[in-house]
Amino acid sequence: MAIEPHTPDAGGEARAEAHPWDELAKAENPPSAFACAHTRDWPGYFKAVAGKEPRETLVKALKFFDEPGFAIDLGCGEGRDTMELLRRGWRVLAIDGHKMAVDLTAHHPRLPSDVGDRLEIRRAEMETVELPPCDLLNASFSLPFCRPAEFEALWDRIHASIRPGGKFAGQLFGDRDTWASLPDRSHQSRREVGRLFRGRYTLEHFDEVERDGEDARGNAKHWHVFHVVAHRCPDGSWSCADPVS
Ligand SMILES: C[S@@+](CC[C@H](N)C(=O)[O-])C[C@H]1O[C@@H](n2cnc3c(N)ncnc32)[C@H](O)[C@@H]1O
Repeated sequence: MAIEPHTPDAGGEARAEAHPWDELAKAENPPSAFACAHTRDWPGYFKAVAGKEPRETLVKALKFFDEPGFAIDLGCGEGRDTMELLRRGWRVLAIDGHKMAVDLTAHHPRLPSDVGDRLEIRRAEMETVELPPCDLLNASFSLPFCRPAEFEALWDRIHASIRPGGKFAGQLFGDRDTWASLPDRSHQSRREVGRLFRGRYTLEHFDEVERDGEDARGNAKHWHVFHVVAHRCPDGSWSCADPVS
């Protein structure tokens, strides 16, 4: 397992490092994962989802593969999806911008004992990180947090990194979601989501979920989320026309 870049905090090398999962357990209980994601309170979010099972979109995507390959887990959080990929024998590049995410993933309780060199963890911003060629790019609930001005370029880099025949799994947040009005978020209309995949992917799973709800603080929240598993077609393929109408 490789973690890079290795940039300890000032004085960090002299201190005995506390185990990140012990520190997380001691932290105050957050209101909910949704409230934390709203405010980008990532440590609170990690605590709220700690130890949860892999995302359904990842599990659905993995059913389409006969054998393990190489995956990028973009915005890996505390590592729930990365652990599932490793458990199934995949090689994984796990990327997250938050130091705690990197530490929690590196010390995850479900980290397989035979991980060897199958896991590389990189602390980096999705807007700038290099995305090498992969069989699966998994981005669970992370893409809405890309800086809006850089989303199109990120999407092009995601597309370029997925090998023809490979897959995308993850979520895009819709334009009618309450958080769409936050200036630092990247949300798409159904039409825009269609444009992202048109001519390049066939959709193996596409679920647009829209509902009213509340977060744990009782704040009203309208959810508008696209759950997607998409197969990247060979370039110029005629079978990839207009997947979202
Ligand atoms: C809602 S969490 C999702 C985490 C995990 N994939 C899951 O499904 O639980 C979003 C994650 O994206 C990361 N993130 C947010 N903005 C980022 C950015 N610009 N670059 C890299 N990671 C970012 C956060 O640190 C957080 O771990």
